[in-house]
Amino acid sequence: MSNIKVLDKEFEPYLSEQTIQSKISELAIELNKEYAGKRPIFLSILNGSFLFTADLFKQITIEAEVCFIKLASYKGTTSSGNVITSIGLDVNLSGRDIIILEDIIDTGKTLHHFLPQLASSQPSSIKIAVLLNKTEALAYPVKVDYACFDIPNKFVVGYGLDYDGYGRNTKAIYQLK
Ligand code: IMP
Ligand code: MG
Repeated sequence: MSNIKVLDKEFEPYLSEQTIQSKISELAIELNKEYAGKRPIFLSILNGSFLFTADLFKQITIEAEVCFIKLASYKGTTSSGNVITSIGLDVNLSGRDIIILEDIIDTGKTLHHFLPQLASSQPSSIKIAVLLNKTEALAYPVKVDYACFDIPNKFVVGYGLDYDGYGRNTKAIYQLK
């Protein structure tokens, strides 16, 4: 594998297609067991998670739904912090078993702000599955239930992850040189 250039930056190979795919298969096997008979709903957070979601969901053999959502943050007028809204969430989540799919957890800020809203729709359970977990960067109390890879605090692109919107369209993952 060779280096790639995305916009003005150079990236070197980090996780190969095969390494990624074999971890996703392991995760699918685990979820198929864990959620058998529960009809879980996978909530995939766009944009970064689209390839991870597609490859994982192909290997989910139990009855399951998938829903793609976008999280947008805006400054609340009454609260001091950021408010996160979800776009595209058109399913009744009451009593459902939810598995959130994220490409990467960095500080955990996005999910930390979104989880209470999700909880308010009274699902039966919420678990978080991520492809990449930047464990050292975590600054908010978010519990990751399934992580394919724990990675150091380095910027990565590829396989759905972007640098300024570019670099998503690779089968492998690359890290900043
Ligand atoms: P958090 O809210 O800080 O956990 O940020 C998570 C989001 O930041 C991810 O969904 C990505 O969109 C983005 N992100 C964090 N680290 C990286 C990276 O190394 N490469 C590309 N995107 C990243
Ligand atoms: Mg993302």
